[in-house]
Amino acid sequence: MITTRPYDNPFTPSFGEVPSFMAGRSEIISNLVRAFDSSRRSPYLSCAITGARGTGKTALLSFAGREAEARGWICVDASALPGLLEDIYERALDAASHLLDSSDSPRITSVSMAGAGVSWEYPASEGGNWRTRMSRLLEELAEFRTGLLITVDEVRPDLDELVQLVTAYQHFVRENRRVALLLAGLPRNMSALIRDESASFLRRAQSVTLGLLPSFEARLAFERTCALAGKEVDDDALDVAVEAAGGFPFMVQLVGFRMWEAAVDDESISAAAALEGARLARLEFTERILGPTYRELSPGDRAFLRAMLDDDDVSALGDVAHRLERGNSYAAQYKRRLLDQGVIEEDFDGMLRFAMPGMREFVEERPAKGTL
Ligand SMILES: Nc1ncnc2c1ncn2[C@@H]1O[C@H](COP(=O)(O)OP(=O)(O)O)[C@@H](O)[C@H]1O
Ligand SMILES: [Mg+2]
Repeated sequence: MITTRPYDNPFTPSFGEVPSFMAGRSEIISNLVRAFDSSRRSPYLSCAITGARGTGKTALLSFAGREAEARGWICVDASALPGLLEDIYERALDAASHLLDSSDSPRITSVSMAGAGVSWEYPASEGGNWRTRMSRLLEELAEFRTGLLITVDEVRPDLDELVQLVTAYQHFVRENRRVALLLAGLPRNMSALIRDESASFLRRAQSVTLGLLPSFEARLAFERTCALAGKEVDDDALDVAVEAAGGFPFMVQLVGFRMWEAAVDDESISAAAALEGARLARLEFTERILGPTYRELSPGDRAFLRAMLDDDDVSALGDVAHRLERGNSYAAQYKRRLLDQGVIEEDFDGMLRFAMPGMREFVEERPAKGTL
């Protein structure tokens, strides 16, 4: 009897993990990589990345950070939380410590006998406000021709420090410093941030929306991720997996993870294993993505989605407005909100469809006035 070793599951069904095979996203990745490589300033060095929860924003930030580091950049990853500015400065110092003169770090000068009081002496270069200290750091990095990439995840419009960061960054750019800023967040938060007058510089940043992966990319993701870890996937299993994932990056990982587990002792993944994987993945996806997304929708958003259910596949805005007994401009507002949240998609002809796998069924199962 031949026994096969159960290989480690290569899928990454948790938030923020860089997948072992990055599906799609090749255009934005190659633009970023070229920007990091180039000695001239590319517009892609200032980028605002949006997309629904689970479309791969955090993974893309981390991926871009690795690519930048491989090209000699210093990379600092931060989240939009109070203390953001100091966090960025401290982490940048840390990440650049191999380049910077070590005498620049604070030194303990005395420790009181009680052990409670420690006084620090900061070298002269430590003084000044945040922007001054950052400028000094950038100057030192410039001596090594090194750039600084700052990534900020989960942006929100109500954090003053984020607006201050954007303002200071704008000055760094104007001063021709080698800096890059990649922001990521939910579409609604990003648009509110961009609307802020003080952050209006962001209107000129590259804006990237992460949508669904085309099915051939999702197929490639299943095939390659499994192949890299030593398992094959039957053709009909691939059909099942691609269909279940609906092009949604997080769902690709959930389906992949579960179907791998269902076939853990086998050399290849069968359609039966893929079906079992898809079933479990749907349950998890509902709990982790559909539920939280639906909970954030307003009654008007939900009514719009319910009005789409009368169509089998795609909906025209006029029909939805008619069913809501409202005018087109009222319906268009809700269309925009739902597009922004990645809940629906609009094709080139303006036809609308549900953009998250299983969302249609999820809405169907909600009572008309239900809150979940
Ligand atoms: N391009 C991609 N191809 C395959 N899987 C991806 C891709 N981007 C993200 N993922 C996976 O999807 C999941 C969600 O990604 P994450 O970056 O956390 O999303 P977000 O930050 O938008 O909520 C993670 O498990 C990640 O590994
Ligand atoms: Mg994220």
